[in-house]
Amino acid sequence: MAFVSITNMLTKAKREKYAVAQFNINGLLWIQAILECAEQLKSPIILAVSDRMVEYLGGFECIHNMVLSIHKKLNITIPVALHLDHGMSVEHCLQAIDAGFSSVMFDGSHSEIAENIKNTQIVSNYAKQKGVSVEAEVGTVGGNEDGLIGGVKYADFDECLRLVSETKIDALAAALGSVHGKYNSSGPNLGFKEMERLNNSLKIPLVLHGASGIPEPQLKKCIQFGHAKINFNTELVTVWANSVRNTLQSNPEICEPRLIMLPAKEALEQKIKTIINIMGSSNRA
Ligand code: 13P
Repeated sequence: MAFVSITNMLTKAKREKYAVAQFNINGLLWIQAILECAEQLKSPIILAVSDRMVEYLGGFECIHNMVLSIHKKLNITIPVALHLDHGMSVEHCLQAIDAGFSSVMFDGSHSEIAENIKNTQIVSNYAKQKGVSVEAEVGTVGGNEDGLIGGVKYADFDECLRLVSETKIDALAAALGSVHGKYNSSGPNLGFKEMERLNNSLKIPLVLHGASGIPEPQLKKCIQFGHAKINFNTELVTVWANSVRNTLQSNPEICEPRLIMLPAKEALEQKIKTIINIMGSSNRA
């Protein structure tokens, strides 16, 4: 299988105190840029598709086949996970697994904990038979992600322990103040005390959602407190959009897509490399 689960990748990262970046993909350009940069830096990497983007990108099989064929074309040798981000239903998670995704997140964080656990168990039992890893969420990451808008709700400590002990998940996204999209002018207010307590009580790695806009020293602190998977989307779409805007504004006659997209790909690559270096995952493949 070309893609690996996040289990070994994250266990090693947590033990050696670095993190693996999850980058959300928004089209072909992202897949090429992420795989090329990770390969150059010899870093393990997680390519993720937010559930709300699946149809836009052609469906699970199309996404899987697209990533697979670019993976082959580029002769990728580093560990790559293909992950469903914020799977909104059990059915979607199972469909992603059947299509060849090597990792899924079941996001039952909007349900009561008993319901969240029950559904996570169904996903986890199915995933384990296929060697696929599972991430689950407790609490709510705030902000706006691909149209889903929500306020921050801190993960409850006991609910986190319960979910982890009653399911066989590989990584836990415990919402502790981060938000998807842009932070307001006062910046992130992360619950480091809660993070430390959780990390001391859990063996599995933590996942940080909403990492775009979190200053580097705080990201490093999150890694120290057990976060081995850190998710980025907004920082990438922002540099992409700025580049496209600049190219169009400074060349009003331009219409060849390749000439508009190549500078945007370079902008993505610069950002991806900067983030991988902050994660400390270079030369860990
Ligand atoms: P950002 O919006 O901060 O990039 O977060 C992305 C994310 O957490 C995807 O799950």
